Amino acid sequence: MAAASDSRPIGVFDSGVGGLTVLAELHRRLPAESTVYLGDNGRAPYGPRPAGEVRAFTLEAARWLLAQDIKVLVLACNTATARALPDVRRLASVPVMGVVRPGAVAAAAATRQRRVGVIATAGTVESNAYGLAIAEADAAIKVTQLACPELVPMVEAGMLDGRRAESVIRAYLEPLLAAEPAMDTLLLGCTHYPLLRAPIERIVGSTVAVVDSAFTTALAVEDLLDALDARAPAGEPSVRRVATTGAVAAFRTVSERLFGVDAPAVEEARLERAAVVPVD
Ligand code: DGL
Repeated sequence: MAAASDSRPIGVFDSGVGGLTVLAELHRRLPAESTVYLGDNGRAPYGPRPAGEVRAFTLEAARWLLAQDIKVLVLACNTATARALPDVRRLASVPVMGVVRPGAVAAAAATRQRRVGVIATAGTVESNAYGLAIAEADAAIKVTQLACPELVPMVEAGMLDGRRAESVIRAYLEPLLAAEPAMDTLLLGCTHYPLLRAPIERIVGSTVAVVDSAFTTALAVEDLLDALDARAPAGEPSVRRVATTGAVAAFRTVSERLFGVDAPAVEEARLERAAVVPVD
């Protein structure tokens, strides 16, 4: 019997350009799949916002993506995952995946001494989502978490390397590197941060493994599609759409850096505002 297939796109959401790091990995791993990406750049960063506001914004974005007739929704934003994954699952009629568990799995697999540092947004650190998810993977791992609020605005502005970027990152990482016992693995707990991988790796040096959730998230999506028998049909061209609620210029810079000449054209998206913003 021929396997079933599903040509609907995979929906991918982030507060801005960060989720493009997950999208790139999805394209590498699942080239036949169509995708539709939404960046809420008009309201990024989410990290410093109250939990209830992040939940409300994430639900608005999820509604927009669900209206595009997607088959799976990937919250490619740690802050949105940490604050809103159960709410989005309640709303959605399709499976919803987050990036926190895949990130925790990657860190637990990489650490040799069971010492992991996590850098993330203030919202993700405050939620302790990574503390819990890494403990679930291996309760003996010691986790040190650090919020780096300047990094998302820097990436959103297209500043991905150079002296200024390096000095901002160094100021965050030096205390983390000096902490005892020393970490052997640094988890990039925000999907924007892999765009800063080059300066981050220069600063932490070769004794610290730098990991993120992109690869393990793409693997989990692949497994999910197989479990549902819902891969795209072979031989049909894939359609890749990218939309933003913000200005397209900075978006394009980062998107072209990741995808080169294959960078999809950027559409503008307008989200329906929910009538009530839940309070924390
Ligand atoms: N990429 C988002 C994350 O993974 C950034 C959140 C923000 O906008 O501050 O957390």
